[in-house]
Amino acid sequence: MSLLIVLISLSENLNPCCYYPCQNKGICIHFELDQYHCDCTRTGYYGPNCTTPLLWTKISKHLYPSHSFVHFLLTHASWIWKLINATFLRDVLMRLIITSRTNLIPSPHIYNSYHNYMNWESYSNLSYYSRVLPPVPEDCPTPMGVKGKKQLPDPEVLVTNFLIRKKFVPDPQGTNLMFAFFAQHFTHQFFKTSLKLGSAFTSALGHGVDLSNVYGDNLKRQYQLRLFKDGKLKFQMVDGEMYPPSVAETQASMNYPPTVPKVYQMAVGNEQFGLLPGLMMYATLWLREHNRVCDILKSEHPTWKDEQLFQTARLILIGEWKLPPSPDSSR
Ligand SMILES: *[C@@H]1O[C@H](CO)[C@@H](O)[C@H](O)[C@H]1NC(C)=O
Ligand SMILES: *[C@@H]1O[C@H](CO)[C@@H](O)[C@H](O)[C@H]1NC(C)=O
Ligand SMILES: *[C@@H]1O[C@H](CO)[C@@H](O)[C@H](O)[C@H]1NC(C)=O
Repeated sequence: MSLLIVLISLSENLNPCCYYPCQNKGICIHFELDQYHCDCTRTGYYGPNCTTPLLWTKISKHLYPSHSFVHFLLTHASWIWKLINATFLRDVLMRLIITSRTNLIPSPHIYNSYHNYMNWESYSNLSYYSRVLPPVPEDCPTPMGVKGKKQLPDPEVLVTNFLIRKKFVPDPQGTNLMFAFFAQHFTHQFFKTSLKLGSAFTSALGHGVDLSNVYGDNLKRQYQLRLFKDGKLKFQMVDGEMYPPSVAETQASMNYPPTVPKVYQMAVGNEQFGLLPGLMMYATLWLREHNRVCDILKSEHPTWKDEQLFQTARLILIGEWKLPPSPDSSR
Protein backbone atom coordinates (compact mmCIF):
# COMPACT_ATOMS: atom_id res chain seq x y z
CA MET A 1 0.00 0.00 0.00
CA SER A 2 2.76 2.47 0.90
CA LEU A 3 4.49 1.76 -2.44
CA LEU A 4 1.26 2.65 -4.21
CA ILE A 5 1.08 5.97 -2.42
CA VAL A 6 4.72 6.75 -3.21
CA LEU A 7 4.17 6.00 -6.88
CA ILE A 8 1.00 8.06 -7.01
CA SER A 9 2.61 11.06 -5.34
CA LEU A 10 5.41 10.99 -7.93
CA SER A 11 3.18 11.78 -10.87
CA GLU A 12 1.28 14.99 -11.41
CA ASN A 13 -2.23 15.42 -12.73
CA LEU A 14 -2.99 11.89 -11.82
CA ASN A 15 -6.48 10.51 -12.38
CA PRO A 16 -7.83 10.92 -8.80
CA CYS A 17 -9.85 7.71 -9.18
CA CYS A 18 -6.50 5.88 -8.87
CA TYR A 19 -6.78 6.54 -5.11
CA TYR A 20 -10.06 4.63 -5.03
CA PRO A 21 -11.63 7.40 -2.96
CA CYS A 22 -15.22 6.09 -3.26
CA GLN A 23 -16.07 3.62 -0.51
CA ASN A 24 -18.92 1.12 -0.18
CA LYS A 25 -19.07 0.33 -3.90
CA GLY A 26 -19.54 3.99 -4.85
CA ILE A 27 -18.53 4.67 -8.45
CA CYS A 28 -15.66 7.07 -9.12
CA ILE A 29 -16.16 9.43 -12.06
CA HIS A 30 -13.17 11.40 -13.29
CA PHE A 31 -13.90 14.93 -14.46
CA GLU A 32 -11.91 17.99 -15.43
CA LEU A 33 -8.20 17.21 -15.06
CA ASP A 34 -7.84 16.29 -11.42
CA GLN A 35 -11.35 16.19 -9.98
CA TYR A 36 -13.56 13.25 -9.15
CA HIS A 37 -17.11 12.65 -8.12
CA CYS A 38 -18.46 9.60 -6.27
CA ASP A 39 -21.77 8.25 -7.44
CA CYS A 40 -23.24 6.72 -4.27
CA THR A 41 -26.56 5.66 -5.83
CA ARG A 42 -28.09 2.71 -3.97
CA THR A 43 -24.96 2.12 -1.86
CA GLY A 44 -26.75 3.03 1.36
CA TYR A 45 -24.18 5.78 1.96
CA TYR A 46 -23.70 9.42 0.99
CA GLY A 47 -21.03 12.13 1.18
CA PRO A 48 -18.09 13.02 -1.11
CA ASN A 49 -16.58 9.53 -0.68
CA CYS A 50 -19.81 7.61 0.05
CA THR A 51 -18.72 7.15 3.66
CA THR A 52 -21.69 8.53 5.64
CA PRO A 53 -24.33 5.86 6.25
CA LEU A 54 -28.01 6.57 5.65
CA LEU A 55 -30.25 6.03 8.67
CA TRP A 56 -31.45 2.66 7.38
CA THR A 57 -27.88 1.50 6.74
CA LYS A 58 -26.98 2.45 10.31
CA ILE A 59 -29.90 0.49 11.71
CA SER A 60 -29.35 -2.63 9.61
CA LYS A 61 -25.60 -2.64 10.30
CA HIS A 62 -26.43 -2.54 13.97
CA LEU A 63 -28.85 -5.45 13.69
CA TYR A 64 -26.64 -7.65 11.53
CA PRO A 65 -24.71 -10.26 13.58
CA SER A 66 -20.91 -10.28 13.37
CA HIS A 67 -19.15 -12.49 10.79
CA SER A 68 -17.60 -14.66 13.49
CA PHE A 69 -21.00 -15.24 15.07
CA VAL A 70 -22.53 -16.19 11.70
CA HIS A 71 -19.60 -18.54 11.07
CA PHE A 72 -20.05 -20.11 14.48
CA LEU A 73 -23.76 -20.60 13.86
CA LEU A 74 -23.17 -22.13 10.43
CA THR A 75 -20.63 -24.63 11.74
CA HIS A 76 -22.24 -25.54 15.09
CA ALA A 77 -25.73 -26.04 16.53
CA SER A 78 -26.63 -28.87 14.18
CA TRP A 79 -30.02 -29.26 15.89
CA ILE A 80 -31.08 -25.84 14.59
CA TRP A 81 -30.13 -26.82 11.04
CA LYS A 82 -31.87 -30.20 11.36
CA LEU A 83 -35.01 -28.36 12.47
CA ILE A 84 -34.80 -25.89 9.60
CA ASN A 85 -34.12 -28.68 7.12
CA ALA A 86 -37.18 -30.62 8.24
CA THR A 87 -39.70 -27.76 8.02
CA PHE A 88 -40.99 -25.06 5.66
CA LEU A 89 -38.18 -22.84 7.01
CA ARG A 90 -35.79 -24.59 4.65
CA ASP A 91 -37.52 -23.27 1.50
CA VAL A 92 -37.98 -19.80 2.99
CA LEU A 93 -34.32 -19.58 3.98
CA MET A 94 -33.03 -20.94 0.67
CA ARG A 95 -35.10 -18.41 -1.27
CA LEU A 96 -33.81 -15.60 0.95
CA ILE A 97 -30.18 -16.66 0.62
CA ILE A 98 -30.33 -17.16 -3.13
CA THR A 99 -32.03 -13.82 -3.81
CA SER A 100 -29.76 -11.88 -1.45
CA ARG A 101 -26.64 -13.47 -2.99
CA THR A 102 -27.87 -12.88 -6.54
CA ASN A 103 -28.53 -9.25 -5.73
CA LEU A 104 -24.85 -8.78 -4.91
CA ILE A 105 -24.05 -9.21 -8.60
CA PRO A 106 -25.29 -6.45 -10.90
CA SER A 107 -27.41 -7.63 -13.78
CA PRO A 108 -27.02 -6.66 -16.57
CA HIS A 109 -23.25 -6.73 -16.08
CA ILE A 110 -21.64 -3.33 -15.77
CA TYR A 111 -17.90 -3.82 -16.23
CA ASN A 112 -15.36 -5.98 -18.00
CA SER A 113 -11.58 -5.80 -18.11
CA TYR A 114 -11.57 -3.29 -20.96
CA HIS A 115 -14.31 -0.95 -19.72
CA ASN A 116 -14.35 0.71 -16.30
CA TYR A 117 -17.62 2.49 -17.08
CA MET A 118 -21.10 1.33 -18.02
CA ASN A 119 -21.14 -0.05 -21.55
CA TRP A 120 -23.06 -2.17 -24.03
CA GLU A 121 -20.21 -4.62 -24.73
CA SER A 122 -20.05 -6.14 -21.26
CA TYR A 123 -23.78 -6.77 -21.41
CA SER A 124 -24.03 -8.11 -24.94
CA ASN A 125 -20.62 -9.61 -25.79
CA LEU A 126 -20.63 -12.92 -23.95
CA SER A 127 -17.01 -13.63 -24.78
CA TYR A 128 -15.94 -11.14 -22.09
CA TYR A 129 -15.65 -12.18 -18.47
CA SER A 130 -17.79 -9.61 -16.73
CA ARG A 131 -16.60 -7.87 -13.57
CA VAL A 132 -18.40 -6.74 -10.42
CA LEU A 133 -15.70 -4.15 -9.69
CA PRO A 134 -14.22 -1.90 -12.37
CA PRO A 135 -10.67 -2.65 -13.55
CA VAL A 136 -7.86 -0.32 -12.42
CA PRO A 137 -7.99 2.80 -14.62
CA GLU A 138 -5.41 2.54 -17.40
CA ASP A 139 -3.49 5.66 -16.39
CA CYS A 140 -2.83 4.58 -12.79
CA PRO A 141 0.65 3.54 -11.74
CA THR A 142 0.42 0.51 -9.44
CA PRO A 143 3.05 -1.59 -7.69
CA MET A 144 2.45 -4.30 -10.31
CA GLY A 145 2.61 -1.69 -13.04
CA VAL A 146 -0.39 -1.07 -15.25
CA LYS A 147 1.63 1.37 -17.31
CA GLY A 148 4.77 1.73 -15.27
CA LYS A 149 7.51 -0.79 -14.47
CA LYS A 150 6.45 -4.28 -13.44
CA GLN A 151 7.62 -4.93 -9.92
CA LEU A 152 6.57 -8.34 -8.73
CA PRO A 153 6.83 -9.22 -5.05
CA ASP A 154 9.79 -11.31 -3.88
CA PRO A 155 8.73 -15.00 -4.07
CA GLU A 156 10.58 -15.84 -0.87
CA VAL A 157 8.64 -13.21 1.09
CA LEU A 158 5.37 -14.57 -0.32
CA VAL A 159 6.25 -18.17 0.51
CA THR A 160 7.44 -17.51 4.05
CA ASN A 161 4.48 -15.27 4.85
CA PHE A 162 1.63 -17.13 3.20
CA LEU A 163 2.52 -20.70 2.26
CA ILE A 164 4.95 -22.31 4.72
CA ARG A 165 3.30 -24.69 7.17
CA LYS A 166 5.26 -25.96 10.14
CA LYS A 167 2.79 -28.65 11.13
CA PHE A 168 -0.24 -30.33 9.57
CA VAL A 169 -3.49 -28.69 10.59
CA PRO A 170 -6.58 -30.64 9.52
CA ASP A 171 -9.35 -28.51 8.05
CA PRO A 172 -11.93 -27.80 10.77
CA GLN A 173 -14.81 -28.59 8.37
CA GLY A 174 -13.27 -31.95 7.45
CA THR A 175 -12.70 -30.99 3.83
CA ASN A 176 -9.60 -31.96 1.83
CA LEU A 177 -7.82 -31.72 -1.51
CA MET A 178 -10.51 -33.82 -3.23
CA PHE A 179 -12.94 -30.97 -2.74
CA ALA A 180 -10.53 -28.42 -4.22
CA PHE A 181 -10.07 -30.60 -7.30
CA PHE A 182 -13.80 -31.24 -7.55
CA ALA A 183 -14.45 -27.48 -7.50
CA GLN A 184 -11.76 -26.86 -10.11
CA HIS A 185 -13.04 -29.62 -12.38
CA PHE A 186 -16.59 -28.32 -11.98
CA THR A 187 -15.91 -24.65 -12.65
CA HIS A 188 -13.86 -25.37 -15.78
CA GLN A 189 -17.05 -26.04 -17.69
CA PHE A 190 -17.98 -22.34 -17.51
CA PHE A 191 -14.71 -20.56 -16.61
CA LYS A 192 -12.80 -21.25 -19.80
CA THR A 193 -10.26 -18.57 -20.52
CA SER A 194 -10.01 -18.12 -24.24
CA LEU A 195 -6.57 -19.05 -25.54
CA LYS A 196 -7.29 -17.06 -28.72
CA LEU A 197 -8.68 -13.78 -27.33
CA GLY A 198 -6.73 -13.59 -24.04
CA SER A 199 -7.33 -13.58 -20.30
CA ALA A 200 -10.20 -11.07 -20.36
CA PHE A 201 -12.24 -13.49 -22.46
CA THR A 202 -14.00 -16.79 -22.00
CA SER A 203 -14.68 -19.35 -24.68
CA ALA A 204 -17.69 -20.66 -22.69
CA LEU A 205 -20.70 -18.94 -24.16
CA GLY A 206 -23.20 -21.12 -22.30
CA HIS A 207 -22.07 -19.88 -18.83
CA GLY A 208 -23.73 -22.86 -17.18
CA VAL A 209 -23.59 -26.50 -16.17
CA ASP A 210 -23.38 -28.12 -19.61
CA LEU A 211 -20.64 -30.68 -18.83
CA SER A 212 -18.47 -29.32 -21.62
CA ASN A 213 -15.62 -30.39 -19.33
CA VAL A 214 -16.71 -33.98 -19.96
CA TYR A 215 -18.01 -33.84 -23.55
CA GLY A 216 -15.98 -30.97 -25.08
CA ASP A 217 -17.35 -27.52 -25.88
CA ASN A 218 -17.96 -28.12 -29.59
CA LEU A 219 -19.38 -30.83 -31.79
CA LYS A 220 -16.04 -31.73 -33.38
CA ARG A 221 -14.43 -32.49 -30.01
CA GLN A 222 -17.53 -34.33 -28.82
CA TYR A 223 -17.34 -36.59 -31.91
CA GLN A 224 -13.63 -37.19 -31.31
CA LEU A 225 -14.42 -38.40 -27.78
CA ARG A 226 -17.46 -40.52 -28.65
CA LEU A 227 -17.33 -44.24 -29.35
CA PHE A 228 -20.51 -44.10 -31.53
CA LYS A 229 -21.59 -47.38 -30.05
CA ASP A 230 -24.24 -47.76 -27.31
CA GLY A 231 -24.05 -44.01 -26.59
CA LYS A 232 -20.66 -44.42 -24.94
CA LEU A 233 -17.53 -42.32 -24.78
CA LYS A 234 -14.25 -43.79 -26.02
CA PHE A 235 -12.09 -45.37 -23.33
CA GLN A 236 -9.04 -47.57 -22.83
CA MET A 237 -8.56 -50.37 -20.34
CA VAL A 238 -5.42 -50.26 -18.17
CA ASP A 239 -4.92 -53.18 -15.76
CA GLY A 240 -8.61 -54.03 -16.07
CA GLU A 241 -9.78 -50.48 -15.26
CA MET A 242 -11.49 -47.94 -17.53
CA TYR A 243 -9.56 -44.74 -18.36
CA PRO A 244 -9.98 -41.92 -20.91
CA PRO A 245 -8.76 -42.75 -24.43
CA SER A 246 -5.38 -41.52 -25.68
CA VAL A 247 -4.82 -38.33 -27.66
CA ALA A 248 -3.14 -40.50 -30.31
CA GLU A 249 -6.39 -42.46 -30.74
CA THR A 250 -8.92 -39.60 -30.58
CA GLN A 251 -6.94 -36.71 -32.14
CA ALA A 252 -8.59 -34.48 -29.51
CA SER A 253 -5.75 -32.11 -28.56
CA MET A 254 -4.74 -31.70 -24.92
CA ASN A 255 -2.34 -29.38 -23.09
CA TYR A 256 0.21 -31.67 -21.46
CA PRO A 257 3.76 -30.93 -20.43
CA PRO A 258 5.68 -31.32 -23.74
CA THR A 259 7.66 -34.29 -22.44
CA VAL A 260 4.57 -36.55 -22.26
CA PRO A 261 4.22 -38.59 -25.49
CA LYS A 262 0.82 -38.58 -27.23
CA VAL A 263 0.15 -42.26 -26.52
CA TYR A 264 0.30 -41.51 -22.79
CA GLN A 265 -1.76 -38.32 -23.02
CA MET A 266 -5.39 -38.95 -22.13
CA ALA A 267 -8.11 -37.07 -24.01
CA VAL A 268 -11.08 -35.62 -22.10
CA GLY A 269 -13.57 -32.78 -22.60
CA ASN A 270 -11.39 -29.93 -21.32
CA GLU A 271 -7.99 -29.45 -22.93
CA GLN A 272 -6.33 -28.29 -19.70
CA PHE A 273 -7.12 -31.34 -17.57
CA GLY A 274 -3.88 -33.07 -18.47
CA LEU A 275 -1.98 -30.56 -16.36
CA LEU A 276 -3.18 -31.67 -12.91
CA PRO A 277 -3.67 -35.28 -11.78
CA GLY A 278 -6.70 -34.38 -9.64
CA LEU A 279 -8.54 -33.01 -12.67
CA MET A 280 -7.77 -36.12 -14.72
CA MET A 281 -8.95 -38.27 -11.81
CA TYR A 282 -12.38 -36.58 -11.81
CA ALA A 283 -12.51 -36.70 -15.62
CA THR A 284 -11.97 -40.47 -15.34
CA LEU A 285 -14.77 -40.85 -12.79
CA TRP A 286 -17.26 -39.00 -15.02
CA LEU A 287 -16.23 -40.98 -18.09
CA ARG A 288 -16.95 -44.20 -16.17
CA GLU A 289 -20.23 -42.77 -14.92
CA HIS A 290 -21.35 -41.84 -18.45
CA ASN A 291 -20.60 -45.32 -19.77
CA ARG A 292 -22.25 -46.94 -16.74
CA VAL A 293 -25.45 -44.93 -17.32
CA CYS A 294 -25.35 -45.96 -21.00
CA ASP A 295 -25.31 -49.65 -20.00
CA ILE A 296 -28.37 -49.20 -17.77
CA LEU A 297 -30.22 -47.18 -20.42
CA LYS A 298 -29.50 -49.75 -23.11
CA SER A 299 -30.77 -52.61 -21.00
CA GLU A 300 -33.98 -50.68 -20.27
CA HIS A 301 -34.41 -49.39 -23.84
CA PRO A 302 -33.00 -52.02 -26.20
CA THR A 303 -34.48 -50.20 -29.23
CA TRP A 304 -32.63 -46.90 -28.65
CA LYS A 305 -29.80 -46.12 -31.04
CA ASP A 306 -26.38 -44.66 -30.19
CA GLU A 307 -27.40 -40.99 -30.53
CA GLN A 308 -30.42 -41.26 -28.22
CA LEU A 309 -28.45 -43.23 -25.62
CA PHE A 310 -25.65 -40.63 -25.71
CA GLN A 311 -27.97 -37.61 -25.50
CA THR A 312 -30.07 -39.11 -22.69
CA ALA A 313 -27.02 -40.19 -20.69
CA ARG A 314 -25.62 -36.64 -21.01
CA LEU A 315 -28.86 -35.16 -19.66
CA ILE A 316 -28.81 -37.63 -16.78
CA LEU A 317 -25.22 -36.68 -15.91
CA ILE A 318 -26.07 -32.96 -16.06
CA GLY A 319 -28.91 -33.74 -13.64
CA GLU A 320 -26.52 -35.60 -11.35
CA TRP A 321 -24.27 -32.52 -11.19
CA LYS A 322 -27.09 -30.17 -10.38
CA LEU A 323 -28.76 -32.19 -7.65
CA PRO A 324 -27.15 -33.23 -4.40
CA PRO A 325 -27.11 -37.03 -4.11
CA SER A 326 -30.04 -38.25 -2.06
CA PRO A 327 -29.14 -40.74 0.66
CA ASP A 328 -32.06 -43.08 -0.13
CA SER A 329 -31.06 -43.48 -3.77
CA SER A 330 -30.28 -47.13 -4.44
CA ARG A 331 -27.83 -46.37 -7.25
C1 LIG B 1 -12.33 11.64 0.44
O1 LIG B 1 -11.20 10.88 0.02
C2 LIG B 1 -10.08 11.69 -0.33
C3 LIG B 1 -9.03 10.78 -0.96
O2 LIG B 1 -8.82 9.64 -0.18
C4 LIG B 1 -9.59 12.42 0.91
O3 LIG B 1 -8.46 13.22 0.59
C5 LIG B 1 -10.72 13.29 1.43
O4 LIG B 1 -10.34 13.92 2.64
C6 LIG B 1 -11.98 12.46 1.67
N1 LIG B 1 -13.09 13.33 2.00
C7 LIG B 1 -13.92 13.11 3.01
C8 LIG B 1 -14.99 14.11 3.24
O5 LIG B 1 -13.84 12.11 3.70
C1 LIG C 1 -32.28 -32.49 4.82
O1 LIG C 1 -33.51 -33.02 4.40
C2 LIG C 1 -33.45 -33.94 3.31
C3 LIG C 1 -34.87 -34.39 2.95
O2 LIG C 1 -35.77 -33.34 2.90
C4 LIG C 1 -32.60 -35.13 3.66
O3 LIG C 1 -32.45 -35.95 2.54
C5 LIG C 1 -31.21 -34.64 4.11
O4 LIG C 1 -30.44 -35.74 4.55
C6 LIG C 1 -31.35 -33.62 5.23
N1 LIG C 1 -30.00 -33.11 5.54
C7 LIG C 1 -29.51 -33.11 6.76
C8 LIG C 1 -28.12 -32.55 6.88
O5 LIG C 1 -30.11 -33.52 7.72
C1 LIG D 1 -16.36 -9.52 -28.33
O1 LIG D 1 -15.27 -8.64 -28.20
C2 LIG D 1 -14.03 -9.12 -28.76
C3 LIG D 1 -12.98 -8.04 -28.49
O2 LIG D 1 -13.38 -6.80 -28.91
C4 LIG D 1 -14.17 -9.46 -30.22
O3 LIG D 1 -12.96 -10.00 -30.71
C5 LIG D 1 -15.31 -10.46 -30.40
O4 LIG D 1 -15.51 -10.71 -31.76
C6 LIG D 1 -16.58 -9.90 -29.78
N1 LIG D 1 -17.63 -10.90 -29.87
C7 LIG D 1 -18.86 -10.60 -30.26
C8 LIG D 1 -19.82 -11.74 -30.31
O5 LIG D 1 -19.18 -9.46 -30.57
